[in-house]
Amino acid sequence: MVNPTLPLLQWYAAHGRDLPWRRTRDPYKIWLSEVILQQTRVDQGMAYYERFIERFPTVADLAAADTDTLMKYWEGLGYYSRARNLHHTAKVVAEEMGGQFPDNYLELLKLKGIGPYTARAVGSLAFDNVVAVLDGNVYRVLSRYMADFAPIDLPQTRDAFQAQLDAWLTQATKQAGDASIPGRFNQAMMDLGATVCTPRNARCADCPLAPQCAGYARSLVEQLPVKAGKVKRKMVWFHFFVAGAAADLWVQRRPAKGLWPNLWEVPNVEVTQEVWQHSDLDGYTLMGAFKHVFTHLDMMIKVYVGPDLRVLEGQPQPELGESRRKIARADVGTYAFSRAVLKIFERYL
Ligand code: ADE
Repeated sequence: MVNPTLPLLQWYAAHGRDLPWRRTRDPYKIWLSEVILQQTRVDQGMAYYERFIERFPTVADLAAADTDTLMKYWEGLGYYSRARNLHHTAKVVAEEMGGQFPDNYLELLKLKGIGPYTARAVGSLAFDNVVAVLDGNVYRVLSRYMADFAPIDLPQTRDAFQAQLDAWLTQATKQAGDASIPGRFNQAMMDLGATVCTPRNARCADCPLAPQCAGYARSLVEQLPVKAGKVKRKMVWFHFFVAGAAADLWVQRRPAKGLWPNLWEVPNVEVTQEVWQHSDLDGYTLMGAFKHVFTHLDMMIKVYVGPDLRVLEGQPQPELGESRRKIARADVGTYAFSRAVLKIFERYL
């Protein structure tokens, strides 16, 4: 993938939002804004931020606040342990660190209530640490940019995305020799996710990354990102093939035993999660992906469409049964298909 940093920063210079916590390099104010923004959206968070800063302009003021007053300022944001952590950390910084926040992300991480996201945000915005933030917005931008179907709620996806972002950011910062890039990169990613690469009705026509965006090129923007959900359940990964010329369709009958006994289906194959996430099959177009929920497991289904069945070099082949036949698409209604296949027909036929 092409490093997205430069087009992103160009876009940010023209279209970034003017937000109050962006007019400062004070780590206290940046930290406060990030903690508030974990609880609420930017439009509402602004009012909280302004009230806090007016009443507690420095970390020492916040440290000296009595708990009831602090809670009053926090009121409505919910999750009150966040406010207690805020107060605790303000006291530690004011009383044990001479009022100075640590200037690097690893030290920031040691403070109560500061996790990887906040440490990276404060480290980059206040101190030019070369570390990328990864929040919901950034996950969405990245999974689309890379057309990556890795479920964004799995820890291994977090690690892979974080490593990719850090690598791009490090490379771009070094190459340009410009220490201000990390802060701008992170804010730009957040803004792009919030205003352009939105969950629905993404504005790809206005996106600086569209020319290099794999999700855009393959019309998968609306399909991404995917989530595995609460994964205590077994998860299986499948490719399904809608194969045939415009009016035809390859179908076959399932065995009498096992899943979906005797029902008809389109050719399909179980693959590993690894293959599923990265597959790109010659001669087929990926139409999308969805999760089909059974009582005992979740089936993650990628749907490939092509003009005929074909041999896939170096990729798992669909398993073809003796019963396979090419039928007219108009006759689909005369066969009994599984619910998963019916879903595929509804969405993609
Ligand atoms: N959401 C979380 N942190 C943010 C920031 N610094 N700017 C805009 N939105 C955010």
